[in-house]
Amino acid sequence: MTGSDFVVVANRLPVDLETLPDGSTRWKRSPGGLVTALEPILRGTQGAWVGWPGVPDVEPEPLIEDGVELHSVPLSAKEVSDYYEGFSNATLWPLYHDVIVKPEYDRKWWSAYVEVNRRFAEATAKVAADGATVWIQDYQLQLVPKMLRMLRPDLTIGFFLHIPFPPVELFMQMPWRTEIVEGLLGADLIGFHLPGGAQNFLYLARRLAGQSTSRGSIGVRSKLGVVQVGFRTVRVGAFPISIDSGQLDEASKSKSIRDRAKQIRKDLGSPKHIMLGVDRLDYTKGIDVRLNALRELLDEGRVDPEETALVQLATPSRERVDSYVKMRGDIEQQVGRINGEYARVGHPVVHYLHRPVPRDELIAFFVAADVMLVTPLRDGMNLVAKEYIACHSDLDGALVLSEFTGAAAELRQAYLCNPHDLDSVKDAMMSAIDQDRETRRRLMRALRRQVLTHDVDRWAKSFLSALGNGEVGGSALMSN
Ligand code: ADP
Ligand code: G6P
Repeated sequence: MTGSDFVVVANRLPVDLETLPDGSTRWKRSPGGLVTALEPILRGTQGAWVGWPGVPDVEPEPLIEDGVELHSVPLSAKEVSDYYEGFSNATLWPLYHDVIVKPEYDRKWWSAYVEVNRRFAEATAKVAADGATVWIQDYQLQLVPKMLRMLRPDLTIGFFLHIPFPPVELFMQMPWRTEIVEGLLGADLIGFHLPGGAQNFLYLARRLAGQSTSRGSIGVRSKLGVVQVGFRTVRVGAFPISIDSGQLDEASKSKSIRDRAKQIRKDLGSPKHIMLGVDRLDYTKGIDVRLNALRELLDEGRVDPEETALVQLATPSRERVDSYVKMRGDIEQQVGRINGEYARVGHPVVHYLHRPVPRDELIAFFVAADVMLVTPLRDGMNLVAKEYIACHSDLDGALVLSEFTGAAAELRQAYLCNPHDLDSVKDAMMSAIDQDRETRRRLMRALRRQVLTHDVDRWAKSFLSALGNGEVGGSALMSN
């Protein structure tokens, strides 16, 4: 059999097909952290990527982009509604993010999820070479490992979850909890960002799938857990994802980007403090939290509207899912309220852009920002926090970071805050603004050491080498 020796499978291709007003089409970069992380890994590997082209009812021919073969899995409009907007983003997404929004459990959506996962497994089975390594990504495709193993027992199969794996008590709400755990157990290696998620999964494998598991604690990139599934050994581990930090570090030092950063400061009216938020417009990101904190700081006179600008860049996301529609309205109202009370003509306090920003422009914003606000209520990792740090070789910048992000486990020198406690967010913002220069530089230096030495290449290598060498790191097995 011919085909690719290395195949990534993700709900989305790294590029989305866009239809222009004149009816012609073009490819544009897909949104989100998964693509940011995986794209540099695959570039130049001659691997293949199996995914949805981002719009319903199209099936473009396979194409090669940066040496990677892109294979489309088409979805009908009904499947986009039931599998993607429904089960993936109105059931799994809120359930795995601590039920910030109530998950909806709909049997029709579940059937669509099973059907689309089967289609991804079949498409992958056709693309993978004999004995290939297949790396399946994220919550949209949790049934694919088992389905693919049944079609192609010759493959080595890895799975990585890019979002948090929830506490057991929450996961147990899921009507199809056993099917999901069994679906994942089709993989040879299952990766999570944090040891806690891996540990939760081990418990569920025992309790729901009735398998024996190891009992020792799981480490970061070390001490894998083990589930014995018949004659197969499935390993479970923690592999915190990262960014192409070297590339961002380089780009942020270029003259054109530094000039652009200066221009941005000028365009904002040369404020003393530029604060920045960069997110998909998602209720998990706590954009409302930082806006509330800013409003209270302005009300209390702790922040001067003449000296401060907050830039919020928000990429449109999942725009047909109800909770996202409502959240957009709420956030835009908050922005309007702050500017209504504190702006002067030609001098807003909050600058809000609801659109994706080109990569170089985004880097210039990171360089220009004195304080980066990353305040999610829950986030698997949060790459934006790491991107900001990688762009500050000048050591002049401060990161306010929610404790409820995966990144907080690594970025201990950030100004950490609890987004459920507004005073904690306000205090972190004030410390970041007021901290003396020496302390700021010392903290940023330590943060940069972490981000530059733990880049996305190291993440991929640690996962793939664990997948390849089949090493078992756990201790004695425990039955349920
Ligand atoms: P998520 O995967 O949930 O979207 P991450 O923070 O892990 O969150 O990754 C988001 C990625 O999308 C980052 O690479 C970030 O730079 C990019 N991004 C977010 N907002 C924008 C924006 N407005 N314009 C361009 N890129 C953005
Ligand atoms: C997060 C998820 C990804 C997803 C991305 C963008 O990063 O972990 O799986 O692709 O958000 O979301 P979208 O629904 O637009 O694909």
